[in-house]
Amino acid sequence: MSIPIYTYDAVIVGAGLAGCAAARELQSAGKKVAVITKLHPLRSHSGAAQGGINAALSNEDSIELHEFDTVKGSDYLADQDAVEFMCKNAPETIRWAERMGAAFSRKPDGQIAQRPFGGQSSPRACYAKDRTGLTLLQTVYEQAYRVGVKFWDEWYAADIIYKDGKVSGVVAFNIRDMQTAIFNAKTVMFATGGYARAYKINSNAHANTGDGLSIVARHGLPLEDMEFVQFHPSGLSGNGVLISEAARGEGGRLFNSKGERFMEKYAPNALELASRDVVSRAILNEIREGRGVGPRKDAVYLDVTHLGKDLIMNKLPELRELAMTFLGLDMIKEPILISATAHYSMGGIPVDIDGHARKNNEEFIEGFYAAGECSCVSVHGANRLGANSVLEALLFGRFVGKTMVKDIDNIELQKATEEDAAKALEEINFVLHNNGDESVPALREELQQCMTANAGAFRSKETLQIAIDTVKELRERFKNVRIKDKSKVFNTELQEALEFGHMLDYSLFIVESAIAREESRGAHYREDFQKRDDENFLKHTMAYMDENGNISLDYMDVVLGKHELKERNY
Ligand code: FUM
Repeated sequence: MSIPIYTYDAVIVGAGLAGCAAARELQSAGKKVAVITKLHPLRSHSGAAQGGINAALSNEDSIELHEFDTVKGSDYLADQDAVEFMCKNAPETIRWAERMGAAFSRKPDGQIAQRPFGGQSSPRACYAKDRTGLTLLQTVYEQAYRVGVKFWDEWYAADIIYKDGKVSGVVAFNIRDMQTAIFNAKTVMFATGGYARAYKINSNAHANTGDGLSIVARHGLPLEDMEFVQFHPSGLSGNGVLISEAARGEGGRLFNSKGERFMEKYAPNALELASRDVVSRAILNEIREGRGVGPRKDAVYLDVTHLGKDLIMNKLPELRELAMTFLGLDMIKEPILISATAHYSMGGIPVDIDGHARKNNEEFIEGFYAAGECSCVSVHGANRLGANSVLEALLFGRFVGKTMVKDIDNIELQKATEEDAAKALEEINFVLHNNGDESVPALREELQQCMTANAGAFRSKETLQIAIDTVKELRERFKNVRIKDKSKVFNTELQEALEFGHMLDYSLFIVESAIAREESRGAHYREDFQKRDDENFLKHTMAYMDENGNISLDYMDVVLGKHELKERNY
């Protein structure tokens, strides 16, 4: 079978906010752009972001306060130059989105409405009811489409072409009929999203299998700060579906089985609006100590009944719908059951502020970029503040697109050949034809259970060692996998197997990075090292995988700045 080779100036993998925003910049500047996405763009997970997008707009707020809250929220691991860049450009990003057509909720005086979110000194989250991500995604996708970006929907990116320190394309196949193609380009950007599907209870779309990270890592390239996985405090009990922080931002309260508003104990000032890591651990602690509610006693109450029907219907309609659909509970009339859910990946492909991907601490990879959740720039450090991710995706997506426009003219196209697809085809053929006795759903269940139990919101050397051993064992067993569907038409069983291979690889990065970090910082809470240790661990983890699948660790300095290290209290 001959493999078509398509040539572009830029190929972007992922059609969420970061991917669409970058693509629009490139195409508007006259560059030829392809966006490869395994979904329809409007199904990208950016559309699931509910509560808001941060920008210091009001007179009571300031860019410096936004920076401070972000750095404090990150437990001082964020790079302060990147944080400054993001916060400074946030107001303009909101205005840009509005000009593009995004309809934000307004105050009676016509100004953009903003709501409080956790860990923030001022109401800062601009929103469109509780459908902010979807509103923005529809807007940015439409605008990218309008200027002529070519979207390759339902194409699965299987590999990058990486030779001589340079990325020059992507190997992908059409999910519809398995046609493989090479997308040869001067520049490639990954905007492939997050990886919380490694956990059993998570708020992520089924597509969030961290493909981009493992594809990069398999070329011996680094992943940064993978141990920092955010648990959002409010996932629906039982399935983890997101109930936006907007519920607490608008005044929602948390109660345990004794009717205690337990956040008074854990964060006496900020209460339910402490940072996410603090609230999630508080909820899980209440449950662990026997004060959980619900049939399995594995939840706490989130109560918004005092806010009244009008506010709930005006500002939180989607949340009400979700709780009614999945739990049969109407939040206008009664508290709903929630618990912490794996939500966001602070770590990812290391990049500089302009989105250039790192080869190591000193060098960059020519022609390769990343933005959004799959990247680590690092504006979130050890813990992200709510409503900073939509901001990061949109803002850095746009700016990285602009960087690529500038870079393209100085990059020579490295011509691809059919040979460049060999590794991807070998992997696909292995999964299609291997005749073992292991099934992907069973292996995935074991991985997710193991990660939740041993590498979740609480971890220790002992549990992390169990996780390392389990992931390695699952990797061996995956060599013995068998899929039943051998067809070439919408073979989702094959796709899930490839995705599971990715989940295994990046999970090993999470647990190996976590076991080495003998401190507690942000979302990484070690029961055996409960304090932050700035002397030894104020540094980013840079993890590499060798050809045998083993992980080695290096570290990179944090970019400090005007916000001085302090103990973090809420
Ligand atoms: O709670 C939420 O609405 C989630 C937003 C975010 O993760 O930034």
